[in-house]
Amino acid sequence: MVTKMEQKSIALDGPAGAGKSTLAKMVAQHFGLIYVDTGALYRCVGLYALRNDVHAQDEAAVTRLLPEINLEMKYDDAGVQRMFLGGQDVTDAIRTPEVSQYASDVSAMPAVRAFLLSMQREMAVKYDAIMDGRDIGTVVLPDAGLKIFITAEPKKRAYRRYLELLAKDPNTQLEDVAREMSLRDKNDSERAAAPLKAAGDAILLDTSNLNLEESFVALCQMISEFRSKQVT
Ligand code: DC
Repeated sequence: MVTKMEQKSIALDGPAGAGKSTLAKMVAQHFGLIYVDTGALYRCVGLYALRNDVHAQDEAAVTRLLPEINLEMKYDDAGVQRMFLGGQDVTDAIRTPEVSQYASDVSAMPAVRAFLLSMQREMAVKYDAIMDGRDIGTVVLPDAGLKIFITAEPKKRAYRRYLELLAKDPNTQLEDVAREMSLRDKNDSERAAAPLKAAGDAILLDTSNLNLEESFVALCQMISEFRSKQVT
């Protein structure tokens, strides 16, 4: 059931590399909100499948794994979201390109989406949250008070993600990043279950020609306006 509490939430959707998580972290800090990165949940399911030698597209096998997945989302003292699988901190382990592809594949499975749904809704009830993902405004929090869809041209998104990965691995190649991203975009937007799309009542923010500071200012304006209209 959608509660009034969910109307205070901010839903942030968009494709990979649009700047969602970087911007969401910045605005969360600015406005004192909790940032919920829902992609991390799908990444954990992907990592669990990978570690159990289950093929990412084997829906029956991934579905069979779900009941045994012990997944926890916690916040450290600095307010940073940390992910735990079976009690082990996997916050960094879920950030590899291999896990990205696994996450995209398992996220197309209705059973996986259903498995993660209540956890996401509970976060919105518990906290003043800004939640980022692909279907937050359409499925997870259809009553979110503010919905923003962040996007940017594919080339710009690929380049941003390339710089991010290059900082961790000097052998990162732009062409590989662009190819993986376009495959993920295709998977995420063409799947039948909760595909990536802007909610009808979402505000569009195209960051193709905005730097980080400009994108942050644009997002802050939207949020300030939203909060000024909220009844306390
Ligand atoms: O945001 P991200 O790149 O960490 O997400 C990893 C994958 O999880 C992405 O390819 C699509 C999927 N995802 C999803 O289907 N729904 C969400 N709410 C968040 C992520």
